[in-house]
Amino acid sequence: MRAELILKKYGKIVDAALDRFLGKPRFPSVLHKSMRYSLFAGGKRLRPILAILTAQACSAPYSRVLPAACGLEMIHTYSLIHDDLPAMDNDDMRRGIPTCHVKFGEAAAILAGDALLTKAFELIALNGRVKGVTPAAAVNAAAEIGAAAGADGMVGGQVVDMLFEGRRVTPKELSFIHSHKTGALITASITAAAMLAGAGEAKIRHFRGFGEKIGLAFQIADDILDITGDEKKLGKTKGKDLKAGKATYPGLFGIEKSREKAENLVLEALRISGKIGNNKGVRALSELARFFVSRTY
Ligand code: IPE
Ligand code: IPE
Ligand code: MG
Ligand code: MG
Ligand code: MG
Repeated sequence: MRAELILKKYGKIVDAALDRFLGKPRFPSVLHKSMRYSLFAGGKRLRPILAILTAQACSAPYSRVLPAACGLEMIHTYSLIHDDLPAMDNDDMRRGIPTCHVKFGEAAAILAGDALLTKAFELIALNGRVKGVTPAAAVNAAAEIGAAAGADGMVGGQVVDMLFEGRRVTPKELSFIHSHKTGALITASITAAAMLAGAGEAKIRHFRGFGEKIGLAFQIADDILDITGDEKKLGKTKGKDLKAGKATYPGLFGIEKSREKAENLVLEALRISGKIGNNKGVRALSELARFFVSRTY
């Protein structure tokens, strides 16, 4: 199946599940409105879809990982809300509409992010009650996602991203930033799903390698799109990285070299996926890996 079709098919399943898990808008209404506003603004749903495809790659039904998959999208959405705040990247547009803080104010946006992050771990815990998931698998998946989202993962990466604004960066420092702020959650979307689906250690190791490669490639592509992308398609303001003096791959290596690096990372990922197997789920994961660098949005 082509990447666009995969995204469309499973995106619908993720959207419906997110709606169910969030529950009806209720008191306090500004909180529920702002959470829903950002969550349903039209993201690609890549992280939950990676989790779903990983379950299929492990010959498990996607229902095995659906609550955690939705939790991953909530963590991602919270990270975008906070990333866009004036104190961070100060962005006005996200997913094609005004950012959460522009629409609801900063305090509401901070709290919407907090609530999404917290709800995510409620769902990840609840995944332990899904038929076929062992308690050990649920605990391991929760620890995996917690580590990837926190100080030694995404949040740590975001801090280093801020520290390097306007400063020269080495290739090693740059790959640290990108692997942490973006790669870690992408990797955990795959490894945590593999755990929930009952994969063994060797398989999880391959999934981790695959995730790390495509996670870094994804952020390199994000840096490139900030320069070459179409603002309407991207749904966010272009050219922000250069203005903010961000440490980026094109900034350090140029656009062509960056593209080459991202493509090579995907080739390495595809080599690893060959070791995982060749069922429908693995093939879809490989298709998505290619999309991570060929994408225009
Ligand atoms: C954008 O992520 C932010 C990064 C981590 C690079 P996505 O490109 O996955 O954003 P959505 O979810 O589709 O809006
Ligand atoms: C985002 O990196 C990383 C996280 C949100 C964790 P960017 O700051 O480059 O993402 P965009 O370009 O605003 O989507
Ligand atoms: Mg940022
Ligand atoms: Mg940003
Ligand atoms: Mg960016």
